[in-house]
Amino acid sequence: MDHVAIATEKLVPNNIHNVATTFSVSDYLKWQEDYYYPILFENKQVRLADVFPSYEPKGDLAYPISTIPFATTNEVGADVLDDIKHMRRQFVADHVGIDDARISFHRHHRCHAWYAYYTNPNRHQRMAIVTADAGGDGAYDSVHLVENGLFREVTETRSNLIGKIYSSVTLLLGMRPNEHEYKVMGLAPYASEYHKQGPRNVFLDSLAVDGLKFKTNSEVRDHFFYFKDKLRIYRFDGIAGGLQDFVETRLCEWFENIGSELKTNHFAFNGGVANNVKANKRLIESARVDSFFVPPGPGDENLSIGAAYLAIYDQLGPEKAHEVIRSNETAYWGPDVDQANKRTFSEHPFIKQYYRQINNVDLREVAKVLAAGEIVGLCNGRMEFGSRALGHRSLIADPSSQDSVRKINDLIKKRDFWMPFTPSVLDSSYDDYIVNPKSISSAFMTGCFDTTELGRKHLKGATHPYDYTARPQRVTEDTCPRYHALITAFKEESGIGAVLNTSLNIHGKPIVMNPTDLIDEILVGGDIPLKYILIEDTFYARDFLI
Ligand SMILES: [Fe+2]
Repeated sequence: MDHVAIATEKLVPNNIHNVATTFSVSDYLKWQEDYYYPILFENKQVRLADVFPSYEPKGDLAYPISTIPFATTNEVGADVLDDIKHMRRQFVADHVGIDDARISFHRHHRCHAWYAYYTNPNRHQRMAIVTADAGGDGAYDSVHLVENGLFREVTETRSNLIGKIYSSVTLLLGMRPNEHEYKVMGLAPYASEYHKQGPRNVFLDSLAVDGLKFKTNSEVRDHFFYFKDKLRIYRFDGIAGGLQDFVETRLCEWFENIGSELKTNHFAFNGGVANNVKANKRLIESARVDSFFVPPGPGDENLSIGAAYLAIYDQLGPEKAHEVIRSNETAYWGPDVDQANKRTFSEHPFIKQYYRQINNVDLREVAKVLAAGEIVGLCNGRMEFGSRALGHRSLIADPSSQDSVRKINDLIKKRDFWMPFTPSVLDSSYDDYIVNPKSISSAFMTGCFDTTELGRKHLKGATHPYDYTARPQRVTEDTCPRYHALITAFKEESGIGAVLNTSLNIHGKPIVMNPTDLIDEILVGGDIPLKYILIEDTFYARDFLI
């Protein structure tokens, strides 16, 4: 190993203690009410450790935490943040066995920016790389101009508070901040104009675009308490709808200013806010945008890859970096199906007792099962990177049927009833279903589009039930041949060139990695087990439809 690149220079101490994975909604509310409120409004000194005296981190921790205070950044001085950085460097040097001179740290938003640029298969000669999230290394956004592979930082500020506002409102609506924002986005289209106009004005009034920066209304001292007060007279759906309208409006204004200032219509967008596919839809449709790329996994999961790209860029220079860093046509970067595990699965007493095993299955047989309204679990090749399935660890079904939606929702996923499913669409059927005149990439499900009349019919269960938009995956033969072959077989059987696709997990549990994970999560864990499973080319059938 030549070098270790570490993303984010200054980690927030309480994040190292894993609060993001352990805190419940009531913990987050207590944090606001018993910690921030007295500090901000009563001028008191409060310590996080006193508000949560019995806090214990759970799960695997990245670093040894005995020396790290359970505190927010505000509670500790710059020296403590420097000590943490030093500890991380030492920890990595010892763990990897590398001289600490060959370890570099990289700023959070720069990692997002570099990842977005190099992952893009269409690196334009002159393009704007835009990032926005709920915070990293003291910044919430950045803009870079990249010309012929050379990066120039235009801004990095704390002014784009869209991510912060979205997470505050997620908590106000009773959901987990920094995790369930997508549920608020899914709820938004249900709001009527009547119910969302009031909340929308509250949000628009709180944050304006000013050139390449944002300007917060001076009345806002803290988002949570500001919105809690201002929104108390409005309904939950109107709040979600008004918030989403505000985000779309402000992002469009911001991108307009960026494009006009940097004289480009080519954009890549990354960071947590780029997960908002409905805002991406509005950006894609705006006259300012000719090309728009959101990389796979646009949240903080991409930081480590961005850091590695940055280290290459810093050491080899832009020209060489441009040459050696390949763009990514697929996001299948995870572990492959473990063959020994696959054998263990097939020999498991539960599987042997209840499932018929068909080796080298003819995909037409699987297509028949799908056409009969059944759900099939897929475990195929290397796992997807990022938090959505792309046909390698997926549950799939007939996308035209509302019954399959209900089946997945009630029996397997226990998902929130208002959340839409997504379609995986054959390359050859894409234009029949999806309205995408600018040919924006749909390889990674990071964009959202209107659907055609035929799309609304064939993809009825895999579009948003209220506004008929879809967040499609365009499936090509060269990027995922086996998945492509399966959907092709389904098209021959049903006339529909797509399947409904959702991740292979029970809601709230991790995505299945290896076949035996299925036994714990889906086959035994659900009320009614998954009846059909395709692991590479071996089909397991619990009922005897075939
Ligand atoms: Fe981030």
